[in-house]
Amino acid sequence: GRCVVAVDGPSGSGKSTVSRRLAVDLGARYLDTGAMYRAITWAVLRSGVDLTDAESVAKVAGEVDLRIGTDPRGYGVTADGVSVDREIRGPEVTRAVSAVAAVPAVRELLVARQREMIANSERIVIEGRDIGAVVAPDADLKVYLTASEAARAQRRSAEDAADVTVTAADLARRDRLDSTRKVNPLQQAPDAVVLDTTELGIDEVVVRLRELLNE
Ligand code: CDP
Repeated sequence: GRCVVAVDGPSGSGKSTVSRRLAVDLGARYLDTGAMYRAITWAVLRSGVDLTDAESVAKVAGEVDLRIGTDPRGYGVTADGVSVDREIRGPEVTRAVSAVAAVPAVRELLVARQREMIANSERIVIEGRDIGAVVAPDADLKVYLTASEAARAQRRSAEDAADVTVTAADLARRDRLDSTRKVNPLQQAPDAVVLDTTELGIDEVVVRLRELLNE
């Protein structure tokens, strides 16, 4: 039957890997909302508008033709017909995405798109920062993944093939930036199941979530 799972948490908490694996196991669609914010950011950078000019940023966001796949085994993202899968993981986009994601009009636009995609899917695992609290408050299961700062930095640096000390400093900087911003996207829904993944493997987390879903 219908099944909507919301997975939230900070960078390096294991969200993406866990969400994709769970979606495959459930025979569900998978939506990476971070990739949507990243693709909009790519379009904003390409347009050359000032990142601190919220009105112009919102205008670019409203005009870009953003498309994202929902196959958990491999999805593509395009912006105005250009495949941006690699570009959206690069340092330029990573540096700018928090500012773009803090623009309320950008969030409204993407939240509406995300709700539409949920409504059109029988089963879906959707991953981000505000999914359980804002995008899908009626989800069948809400998960909030955490992990120690050291574990998060280690995972992220392994993914990016980057130096762990540099990554740790970058994550700490982004966490601090996000938490002192007026618009901090990361929200823990009051009814979310909190799982600390510091000492847990991917398999253990996925098994635990399937138990919670009775699937
Ligand atoms: O690399 P990381 O796991 O931090 O990022 P991501 O999941 O790809 O998301 C990139 C950025 O998009 C985050 O740092 C947030 O600023 C923003 N974001 C958001 O505001 N709301 C979401 N639902 C998902 C991502």
